[in-house]
Amino acid sequence: MLFTNVLRALPAALLFTGTQATPLGDLESRQTTIDAFIKAQTTISVNGILANIGGGGSKAPGVSAGIVVASPSRTDPDYWYTWTRDAALTYKALVERFISGDTSLRQKIDDYVSAQAYLQTVSNPSGGPDSGGLGEPKFNVDRTAFTGAWGRPQRDGPPLRATALTIYANWLIANGNKTQALNVVWPVIQKDLGYTVRYWNQTGFDLWEEVNGSSFFTLAATQRALAEGAALAKTLGQTCTGCADAAPQVLCFAQSFWTGKYIDSNINVNDGRTGLDANSILSSIHTFDPASKCTDATFQPCSARALANHKAVTDSFRSVYAINKGIAAGKAVAVGRYAEDVYYNGNPWYLATLAAAEQLYDALYQWDKQASITVDSVSLAFFKDLIPSIATGTFAKGSATYTSITSAVKTYADGYVAVVQKYTPSNGGLAEQFDKNSGTPLSAVDLTWSYAAFLTAVERRASIVPPTWGEPANNVAPATCTGTPACNAKTTFNVQATTVYGENVFVTGQLTQLGNWSPDAAKALSAAKYTASNPLWSATIDLPASTVFEYKYIRKNSAGAVTWESDPNRRFTTSAGCGSTATINDTWR
Ligand code: NOJ
Ligand code: NOJ
Repeated sequence: MLFTNVLRALPAALLFTGTQATPLGDLESRQTTIDAFIKAQTTISVNGILANIGGGGSKAPGVSAGIVVASPSRTDPDYWYTWTRDAALTYKALVERFISGDTSLRQKIDDYVSAQAYLQTVSNPSGGPDSGGLGEPKFNVDRTAFTGAWGRPQRDGPPLRATALTIYANWLIANGNKTQALNVVWPVIQKDLGYTVRYWNQTGFDLWEEVNGSSFFTLAATQRALAEGAALAKTLGQTCTGCADAAPQVLCFAQSFWTGKYIDSNINVNDGRTGLDANSILSSIHTFDPASKCTDATFQPCSARALANHKAVTDSFRSVYAINKGIAAGKAVAVGRYAEDVYYNGNPWYLATLAAAEQLYDALYQWDKQASITVDSVSLAFFKDLIPSIATGTFAKGSATYTSITSAVKTYADGYVAVVQKYTPSNGGLAEQFDKNSGTPLSAVDLTWSYAAFLTAVERRASIVPPTWGEPANNVAPATCTGTPACNAKTTFNVQATTVYGENVFVTGQLTQLGNWSPDAAKALSAAKYTASNPLWSATIDLPASTVFEYKYIRKNSAGAVTWESDPNRRFTTSAGCGSTATINDTWR
């Protein structure tokens, strides 16, 4: 009744926009629905996170305080572990929430700090506290090492954790508790940054734990953590060795992921994928700086590059999921990890769909702050999906074009939240995935990271943003990348291997310097000292110091056929200190 009256009272021009007739009543009621959904789902998400944290969480019985369980699911899939990445991203959301007023979270945050300080001391298959162990992706919930096979190391964990803790440390400093920041939080951050400075230039597994190479997400998290870590160290009168030097080098390297049209999420690996991956959208939202202009170099949410990438990545899911069928470009769809995904047959993920919304809310915030929007040749296609008639140019806040862009982007962003709403069960439980055909929840139930992703997306929608991480002072990539000075250990491989004429022995393994397990790139050993009684093959190779790695010897015959040693892989930790030496004596098996 009321609607009809309101409608009648409004001029026709306001009721219909463009070609698509949209009665205001529908818009209003949908708006109410989305707001109501967000309100209820926010409470569910906060509770969903807290339930999965040890030291009181209802779905984490017996779990140590401050330990974040990835999901209470113990079979198919078994997520009853704590992943450093999931925990850090979850706590980043909790710390931001704490800072914006939810003081009840203080104890939980302090629990996290202690739990992580402990985990940093636990030796594990990635190494010890000083030999790469901080790159271990996950631990048992009782804080012991997980020793099964896994895609390790994953180098995003330490910088993500450093970021969550740096936000907290900065708050402590600003709120009269510099002592806690210095004595309790900084030591944990310092170790994570020490790891990051030392290993950032080495390959590792991506955030999806599948690809061993260079992952954009890891590098983006790294640059941010090093930049803000260097600033924090200064504030605290401490040193963050190598941080300020490495940060611009990381940014320099990050530029090489840009293809000209989108971000290739994984490089230095032959993964047979396009590289269009939610990896890059997650990178953009987790390096979002509210004080930034739309910098391309740091792929800020409102940058031309990140918007072009948003289109390329989201479009890549339009044809692969049945539930997206018939939804045109510029309208929200369900988003997954990457189109080639086969995990649970490859489906949309809540956290990826929410990230697509979050990037757009971030961009809206940044445009508002800088009071203009620039459409350039790189971002034009993104904007054309929303406003077909748009051309390149800069549009000031207040102009008609600025207003129509921001309202279209807001609608587009809300569309992603509406997709999540549509596929969220009535109890509000957010699993990891939802079925690409039916939309029903799939894989791990109550995924902590899904809830955290919900919170940050809707906070950005409400213009609640995290503190700056200093992007404006850290957004210029050096013209040439020099990397960081190598810190190598000379490692001599000696293997007793009786060979026939024409056969040669090589070593390969997990490190770039050993060819990353590729027989073609394996390192040749020399038979210069080979005798019948001492069939010695040998090579001395520069490998990164203090690094755990797995390796094997292979032999190639004169025709090039490769024979591998039998399982298991061999393991070694290189010696500590630049220029140090070590010798490995093995016998072919
Ligand atoms: C393969 C999945 O793609 C990866 O993301 C997951 O972490 C592991 N399996 C273990 O569940
Ligand atoms: C699989 C995801 O691919 C990975 O990113 C995550 O850390 C684990 N599941 C645990 O949630």
